[in-house]
Amino acid sequence: MAERGPLIRNISETALWVAVYRARETDRPDAAFRDPFARRLAGPRGEEIARSFPFSDKAAWAWVARTVLFDQLIEEQVRAGADLVVNLAAGLDARPYRMALPPALKWVEVDLPDMLTHKAEILAGEKPVCSLERVGLDLSDVSARRALFERLGRSASRVLVVSEGLLIFLTPEEVGALARDLASPGTFRNWALDIASPGLLKMIQKDSGAQLSAAGAELKFGPAEGPGFFVPHGWKPVDVRSPLKTAARLKRLSFGLRLVAMLPESSGPQGSRPWSGVCLFERA
Ligand SMILES: C[S@@+](CC[C@H](N)C(=O)[O-])C[C@H]1O[C@@H](n2cnc3c(N)ncnc32)[C@H](O)[C@@H]1O
Repeated sequence: MAERGPLIRNISETALWVAVYRARETDRPDAAFRDPFARRLAGPRGEEIARSFPFSDKAAWAWVARTVLFDQLIEEQVRAGADLVVNLAAGLDARPYRMALPPALKWVEVDLPDMLTHKAEILAGEKPVCSLERVGLDLSDVSARRALFERLGRSASRVLVVSEGLLIFLTPEEVGALARDLASPGTFRNWALDIASPGLLKMIQKDSGAQLSAAGAELKFGPAEGPGFFVPHGWKPVDVRSPLKTAARLKRLSFGLRLVAMLPESSGPQGSRPWSGVCLFERA
């Protein structure tokens, strides 16, 4: 029998996996959003990766709800005057192509160079609805990211930073340092991000941690403080939204999870309770 290679080869391939959820959602008659580019971006390799994760189908609601919540926060922030969106670890996200954004909006996607080259090739024939720049950069390169943030900070008056599905791969120290760098340019006003509780981190580590770790994409960040983690690093939480409750509203939950979704939810520390939040922060 031919030996199978590791199904997920590196951290960037997690982006193929997420794109599969957007593609599957788009195919539904009752889709909560439509991403007509996701199927092409995910490709057959994305489907192969998605199928290899044991909880893949059962957890689809979490990705769908996360996308819906980020879409909402971005729309609201743009309406409130954000003139630049900086999407860190943008992966195969196609929001500058699929969302109804003002043509004058500037959008910058940052990700590892190979990922952005791959994406640019696939989307070569498509036109974004707003101005779009792609910056191939390893975000762990501290001096390069600081220089980028300073440049971008000078080019706009109100910046929304987005990081969707990135922080879980970083250590708390790395997240803190990134947060402080993002709080440095005066125009970086808001940051939309997702976090997991320690309980959820443990659960995902148990389900797929080994496979992800083997690909160099170890899951590390699930702060005990919850959104309060970011306060000493220059960011105060102004809005915390629940993917679970959003998925309940979208009628995407199993019976058991529907019951869990009825319980009251706090936006503070969650301890061992499996919890995720899509949070909006304001520069302190
Ligand atoms: C789970 S994907 C999320 C992609 C996208 N935000 C989404 O939600 O579809 C994680 C992304 O982080 C990117 N990434 C991981 N480490 C990075 C680093 N050090 N610098 C830049 N991008 C990184 C990967 O290339 C990948 O695209």
